[in-house]
Amino acid sequence: MGRKSREIVEININELLKDLNKAYSDEWIAFYYYSWAAEFVEGPDYPTIASELKNIAKDEFEHMSELSDRIYELGGEPVRDIGELQKIANCKKVDFPKNERDLESVLNAVIEAEGCAIDVYNKLLKKVSACYDKDVRTFHLIEHILSEEIQHEEAFENLLQKRRR
Ligand SMILES: [Fe+2]
Ligand SMILES: [Fe+2]
Repeated sequence: MGRKSREIVEININELLKDLNKAYSDEWIAFYYYSWAAEFVEGPDYPTIASELKNIAKDEFEHMSELSDRIYELGGEPVRDIGELQKIANCKKVDFPKNERDLESVLNAVIEAEGCAIDVYNKLLKKVSACYDKDVRTFHLIEHILSEEIQHEEAFENLLQKRRR
């Protein structure tokens, strides 16, 4: 392989660590907002939605932990300063309605958040697939997280559909 060809498959570790730390921050933020919303929702249908929010929050916590492991393995350090999380996150905020009984708006907000996560991991997957032969582990981790974000979006969309029926 020529110099240029090697160059384009070479992993830029610093850039990868930066991307992984941004995704790590997204996961903390999702975990925080979903856990918050699980306690916030009210009304007759709230138990189903609260329990789905709690389950998915657990997945986001797991993603955070998997990303953290990978960051250490690559010689980096996950974000130390909590204030930094929101600064560097790709998906910074989930906007919930004022009214805790407005479950449709709660679901729309989390569907939007999952859409942002899907975008982030889809882009990241394309990026790491360029150096698949050099870093298979990161590729599979991102692929695994992306597939779960797709399931989350679907789960929240199904809840929204049920309410509209
Ligand atoms: Fe996640
Ligand atoms: Fe998710």
